[in-house]
Amino acid sequence: MTTDTKAISDLAETITVCSVEELPDGGSRLVEADGRKIGVFRCGDELYAIEDRCSHDDGPLAEGEFDAAACTVECPRHGSLFDVRTGRPKTLPAFQPVDTFEARIEDGEVKLEI
Ligand code: FES
Repeated sequence: MTTDTKAISDLAETITVCSVEELPDGGSRLVEADGRKIGVFRCGDELYAIEDRCSHDDGPLAEGEFDAAACTVECPRHGSLFDVRTGRPKTLPAFQPVDTFEARIEDGEVKLEI
């Protein structure tokens, strides 16, 4: 297990999303990396990232309405609420989680591990 985890982290790529000022509390950014669209969200001082593809019917999940207080985003296609901290849906019709990614602040910039 440890070896697998290390192998995955060795393959991970870090990309710079934007400066911290460009992603204030309650803000979100959509980035395209490695052929995938990923939404980066800021809830207070924490950053979270999920894939921009709903697990229900491939809707543009990360482009939905973001509620920073609840750390949720609403799929614009059929309305499932997803927790951006875990990628798990909180309401139907989606019932499977979406992929999450590590996002962090480093040297004044928002970094994303893909
Ligand atoms: S595609 Fe997201 S809830 Fe249906």
